Amino acid sequence: RDDLVRLLLSRIRDVPDHPKPGIVFKDITPLLADPEAFSALTDALAAFCRDQGATKVVGLEARGFILAAPVAVRAGLGFVPVRKAGKLPGATLSQRYDLEYGSAEMEIHAEDLSGADRVLVIDDVLATGGTAEASLRLIRRSGAEVAGLAVLMELNFLGGRERVLPALDGAPYQALVTV
Ligand code: PRP
Ligand code: MG
Repeated sequence: RDDLVRLLLSRIRDVPDHPKPGIVFKDITPLLADPEAFSALTDALAAFCRDQGATKVVGLEARGFILAAPVAVRAGLGFVPVRKAGKLPGATLSQRYDLEYGSAEMEIHAEDLSGADRVLVIDDVLATGGTAEASLRLIRRSGAEVAGLAVLMELNFLGGRERVLPALDGAPYQALVTV
């Protein structure tokens, strides 16, 4: 476990002043480019899916898709996308959430989940928690159960954990790396 955390941390690059001055961007592209690290991450998240008895894996657009899709394949589960508003062609459920300035909206195909599903949600980063919280609400509104939330990285100083805990309603939360 410590070895995994060390490996993952060594493949996340700090990019100062991106996208704005004063922000240190956490770039996961070195991790994605390293098959050993990407595979180890995928294994750890697939094990979490199995431990929680998940029946579906939800990834959050866009970077969450990159991490969640191989986890779904490795765990032998279906993948369901939560997309930014306006992208999905079918009947959707949508959820607005507040940003620092303004708001954003995420959507899911209503038919992709049913009351029989236990859903594991995966994203790359938990920052303020707004994206994850909105996605957890979408899953509950679809009638499915939340099996858990997993992120590669939690930005501890932004308080996202406190924001998502009520939406998790007792379901487990896992952050592989906390910075
Ligand atoms: C980033 C990141 C998380 C989200 C976390 O996504 O990938 O999804 O922000 O922030 P929050 O906890 O404050 O909601 P973003 O929409 O910036 O970009 P992406 O489309 O590249 O994933
Ligand atoms: Mg994102």
